[in-house]
Amino acid sequence: MTPKTFKIKSFGCQMNVYDGDRMAELLNQRGMHAAAEGEEADLVVLNTCHIREKAADKAYSDVGRLRREDGSKPLIALAGCVAQAEGAEARRRSPMIDIVVGPQAYHRLPQMITEASLGRRPVDTDMPAISKFEAFPKRRHANPSSFLTVQEGCDKFCTYCVVPYTRGAEISRPWNDIVTEAHALVDGGAREIVLLGQNVNAWEREGRGLADLIRALAKIDGLERIRYTTSHPADMTDALIAAHGEIDELMPYLHLPVQSGSNRILKAMNRTHTAETYLAILEKMRAARPDVALSGDFIVGFPGETEEDFQSTLQIVDAVRYASAYSFKYSARPGTPAATMEDQIPREIMDDRLQRLQAKINEHQLAFNRSKVGWDTEVLVERRGKLSGQMIGRSPWLQSVHVETDAEPGEIIDVTLVAGGPNSMTGAVRTKEAA
Ligand code: SAH
Ligand code: SF4
Ligand code: F3S
Repeated sequence: MTPKTFKIKSFGCQMNVYDGDRMAELLNQRGMHAAAEGEEADLVVLNTCHIREKAADKAYSDVGRLRREDGSKPLIALAGCVAQAEGAEARRRSPMIDIVVGPQAYHRLPQMITEASLGRRPVDTDMPAISKFEAFPKRRHANPSSFLTVQEGCDKFCTYCVVPYTRGAEISRPWNDIVTEAHALVDGGAREIVLLGQNVNAWEREGRGLADLIRALAKIDGLERIRYTTSHPADMTDALIAAHGEIDELMPYLHLPVQSGSNRILKAMNRTHTAETYLAILEKMRAARPDVALSGDFIVGFPGETEEDFQSTLQIVDAVRYASAYSFKYSARPGTPAATMEDQIPREIMDDRLQRLQAKINEHQLAFNRSKVGWDTEVLVERRGKLSGQMIGRSPWLQSVHVETDAEPGEIIDVTLVAGGPNSMTGAVRTKEAA
């Protein structure tokens, strides 16, 4: 039976969220529609993440949970990075899976659904020359803040990471395709666009780089804010740094993962930067845009990490004074060089280091938020809050801001930041008289 309703669940990074939205649009175009809240869907797409063991295992437990009380089950498509990494093997682990589709093969999804409805079990983990982007329909609806994937894949091969294997080699989408999609998003209601890529700052076409692209997008009427994520220190060009001081629409925020503060560990990770070169990039960034909010990623417990190495990580957190940062326990991934390195770190040590690192990150996050109290700024309203009359939006520094206002999602309002907690800010609307 051909499915009529679907549900897509995306896990992992923002690029999966983007892909999930695009798959939904593709299925809509083929006459299917999203199942209502609480309704059982004929087709469930699990758009999975393979970055750490826990995320990958979750995919299989989620599949198991799709069996209904009467013993029946929906059509199940395993998509995303677990599908790419495991291919046909996925169905040996879980025979409930009907379709296995890798992140570069989504244009084949409708056809695979037809095949699966006829009782076949299609698997497609090809990384073909024609891109999935060409198959996705023109965009119609957009969130106030919308994602736009401009670059995919990774050639960096950090020794702990699966992404180069699950997403393939670095590719940059063509300039015109991106500009057309950005216009459609703005027409659909987007006020902010977040440019996405596993190495977004490596975007390059015909000698033009990400800074040129941002400059062009900033000219679109109605597009008020531009962000981009995630960047690699090796591709952080002077032109992109300078753009932060020149383009008003480019928000004062940079997510630049460092992973460790120890040069010995960075080398073993194949990261190509040192603590010093990383700090030098951030110094240039602060010179170009003094109020920039900095963010990063960290891994604790990489093979061979000593207490001294870990101390260097704590030191770099103090040196940068991050506005926010993400930290993870190292997870050995099959097929990556680090998985077979000697001196894997015991779990208890990782737990302890993660706790100490997160405590330090939280201190800086709170300090950053408090430093913004008293500032007059703009907030892009995104959604309703829990309290009546309360809305939640984002400051230019990506802080979540709670405001009492009758403004609707998509409006940009003038506020004074009146209080700052560890994870969010409170804003008060500035009236014209007071301004
Ligand atoms: N391309 C981006 C994002 C990669 S995945 C980048 O280079 O930063 C997001 C984060 O997950 C990484 O920055 C890293 O901190 C973390 N990560 C990746 N592989 C991991 C692993 N095997 N164990 C633990 N954390 C990992
Ligand atoms: Fe993974 Fe490194 Fe590529 Fe980031 S740069 S996706 S961490 S291999
Ligand atoms: Fe996960 Fe794949 Fe993104 S492994 S983090 S979903 S690129």
